[in-house]
Amino acid sequence: MERKWWHDKFIYQIYPKSFKDSNNDGIGDIKGIIEKLDYLKDLGVDILWLTPFFTSPMVDNGYDIADYCDINPLFGTMADMDLLISEAKKREIYIMMDMVANHCSNKHRWFQEAIKSKDNPYHDYFIFRDKPVHEEHRSCFGGSAWEYVESLNQYYFHEFAKEQPDLNFDNPKIMEEIENAINFWMKKGIKGIRFDVIHMIGKQIDNGIYGYGPKLHERVQELYKTSYGNYDIVTVGEAWGNLEQALDFTLPERNEFNMVFQFECTSSTNDNSKHGKFTPKPIDMKFCKDTWIKYQDGLNKKSWNALFVENHDLGRCINRFGSLDYQKESAKAIATMVYFQKGTPYIYQGQEIGMTNIRMDKLEDYNDVEVYGAYNDFVVKAKDITYEDFMDACYKEARDNNRIPFQWDDSVNAGFNKGKKPWLKINNNYKEVNVKYELKDPDSILNFYKKLTRLRKNPLYKDTFTYGVFEAIDKDNKDIFTYKREFEGQTIIIVVNMKKDKISYKLPYKVNKVLLNNYNKEYKNQELNLDPYEAIVYLV
Ligand code: GLC
Ligand code: CA
Repeated sequence: MERKWWHDKFIYQIYPKSFKDSNNDGIGDIKGIIEKLDYLKDLGVDILWLTPFFTSPMVDNGYDIADYCDINPLFGTMADMDLLISEAKKREIYIMMDMVANHCSNKHRWFQEAIKSKDNPYHDYFIFRDKPVHEEHRSCFGGSAWEYVESLNQYYFHEFAKEQPDLNFDNPKIMEEIENAINFWMKKGIKGIRFDVIHMIGKQIDNGIYGYGPKLHERVQELYKTSYGNYDIVTVGEAWGNLEQALDFTLPERNEFNMVFQFECTSSTNDNSKHGKFTPKPIDMKFCKDTWIKYQDGLNKKSWNALFVENHDLGRCINRFGSLDYQKESAKAIATMVYFQKGTPYIYQGQEIGMTNIRMDKLEDYNDVEVYGAYNDFVVKAKDITYEDFMDACYKEARDNNRIPFQWDDSVNAGFNKGKKPWLKINNNYKEVNVKYELKDPDSILNFYKKLTRLRKNPLYKDTFTYGVFEAIDKDNKDIFTYKREFEGQTIIIVVNMKKDKISYKLPYKVNKVLLNNYNKEYKNQELNLDPYEAIVYLV
């Protein structure tokens, strides 16, 4: 496999609105990120993926872009962004941006022009029809995917909120606009791109095809050729799909992306009814284990995996995969299980200190457009979920769980700012779960993450963790996830008890040296009694 500069890097996702508020207006900002670069360096991360920081009315918190080449004033200025890029670079940290190609904001100049008349050159930038087609297709954020525009007597298509009109990729001008936007940021020294819902840019509305349309890959390859493919950057596609579809995006010879996110594990708590995540079901860790193995076996020999358990669209991993009764142990077990697989690790802000989901008192405490859309569809209109059940589902699955302010210390507003009311509530647990406190506690989740990033980059083991062959051991074991990484004669074993029960287990090989574990134990004997969420990484 050809080696790339980013193969051994950790990517850290920042949700700028919630990371650090430097000017005390209640909203996180770019200067706040700059303040924390030394913290991030010390954590051991190399690339910062920032969710959209472009001009936006923030209906979907930046995923509704009104100008692809300017900075949202809520977050700062272009000078701030330039400073962030250069200050990060001084610390050998690079910036990954979030490219939202599928849709823009209805406040974008293109859309404002488009609704002036059918003859306006921008009208064909969007998907207008005289009547909604395939009306049964619902918007991801609830309600119809078609919105009426009186001045035109036409409807436009929006996969997401009505303030996020889909761009018409059948119009070659759109490809050009997106290419220009990407090239603008490439020239500024951005070193990575995450492509938002990119599987949707081949849609064929009239045929009822929304994801994975026939022209999808042709379009991605063209974007590659005319923009980011000319730069030595790292790319990841947000592409909801299966293993086969992941391969199509990531086989190196296809010149599309370096990797995609697979959501099979993180979305396995969604039931398959029309309510999706709003009638969640319990996690099945054996299914997750099988899925991780499937992607390791399926992608690694040919392309590359993205390793993640959290992002800004999901709840916290302790709530999903672990247990609040074993907050520390399970947080460490999850990290061990996932981040020693082969691929690029992504850590979502706050995950490294074990932030958890937040219990909101009332609907109005939520901000997310998705929550209100689902509430309207299921609780108000269809009345097939009660208010109480809906609030409980939100506690488990709402995206705001991961968007609440970062917990820096035990001062007012958890140190997110100096006291102005933040845009979302602070979690009550901030007195114990915060950076300041955890830095001092050698046994903290944060210190475990710091050990983990250092171990994966330790020159003695780095090649094995980066390029070593992955092989699952005891595949049928439904409680314990064991796997081997092997490279040029070096063998490292990872063993994780995925459950809160004690389990007896025989290690597959003798322990030569423990590299990382989450209980203070030695392993002289191969016959073990694993404690709840016990995790061990050892050299054979
Ligand atoms: C992606 C983003 C999500 C956003 C949606 C529409 O799934 O991650 O936050 O709401 O696309 O852009
Ligand atoms: Ca601010």
